[in-house]
Amino acid sequence: MAAPLADRLRAQIRDQGPIPVSTFVEAALYDEHEGFYVVGGRAGRHGDFLTAPEVGPLFGAVISGAVDSWWESAGRPARFTVVEHGAGPGTLARTVMAAEGGCFAAGALRWVMIEPSASQREAHPGGAFLSSFADASEVEGLVDVVFANELLDNLPFDIVARRGDRGVALAIDIDDGRFVLVDGPPVAPPPIANGARLPRVDNAAAWVVAQRARHPSARLVVLDYMATAEELVTRDGGWLRAYRDHDRIDDWLADPGLVDITVDLPLDELLALHPTSVRLQADFLRAHGIDQLVDQGRAAWHAGSAVGDLAALKGRSRLREAEALLDAAGFGGFHVLEWEPEAHRSGC
Ligand SMILES: C[S@@+](CC[C@H](N)C(=O)[O-])C[C@H]1O[C@@H](n2cnc3c(N)ncnc32)[C@H](O)[C@@H]1O
Repeated sequence: MAAPLADRLRAQIRDQGPIPVSTFVEAALYDEHEGFYVVGGRAGRHGDFLTAPEVGPLFGAVISGAVDSWWESAGRPARFTVVEHGAGPGTLARTVMAAEGGCFAAGALRWVMIEPSASQREAHPGGAFLSSFADASEVEGLVDVVFANELLDNLPFDIVARRGDRGVALAIDIDDGRFVLVDGPPVAPPPIANGARLPRVDNAAAWVVAQRARHPSARLVVLDYMATAEELVTRDGGWLRAYRDHDRIDDWLADPGLVDITVDLPLDELLALHPTSVRLQADFLRAHGIDQLVDQGRAAWHAGSAVGDLAALKGRSRLREAEALLDAAGFGGFHVLEWEPEAHRSGC
């Protein structure tokens, strides 16, 4: 049996010297035996952290509206394929299907989920959903939309720091058995004050570039927490967070494999990839009908609150979900970046 992950990382550092932060994070999240996501870490009310699809069915209903608008503008093709990367246990797919939008009702929607973590795939309740898991390499045929909610913040990142007129990438060493950050190789000086630090998300940027190259006729949509370098360096509580069972963990280096490790994405690095649209998540949700869905929920609540029937309770829950999804200090303040298809479908 392999030695515990922390011991293997210590041995690696003793053999090779300090390792890049991204190597540590990759092992902590995705080590084949003990990675946080491999052993069952996940989003959800009963999981480790909450994401927008896990707030309730409203987010999926809005995404269903977005899919319908993209399907309409593609000329309502007979088959419309959405590939969702980092699908977790498939909550978004389930709630999109449950919303029964036009693309779904026409039998056109094919929703393919990419999720490397077996424990998350197994958490999918199954059932008669027109969605399935696949390996990224198996996705064939025309893809219309590539979608990722809170994937990029979980791809292994690095940390850069300013040292006078120089920049350094931080690395991870051991001191008295504990993992510590030390200065590593030189990098271009980041545009921040002396001593300040920023995340560098080259893996996230490479993922965007790879998806654009692989699916040039697809719309690419990524939703995540992001901020400019200026905002990140002044952010209360910093831009790196670790979670376990919904608790925030102070020392993200202490227990690799036992905690989720995530960063606020540096918007500047992703803007350099020229998205065609950049907006706050609240604006994206409004553009795709959240207010109308909330109005319907309010009407159902008013009509049925006296008897408290199921439709009324669902309506009331929609109001609460909308508050969370539109909160500027929470999900509403996330960014949505979209890259339009390079070549639209012909003949539609
Ligand atoms: C923060 S969770 C988000 C889950 C879901 N999208 C949600 O919003 O609830 C990130 C997910 O991305 C998955 N993941 C990590 N690397 C990936 C990759 N290269 N391709 C696809 N998914 C990946 C992880 O296993 C994890 O389930």
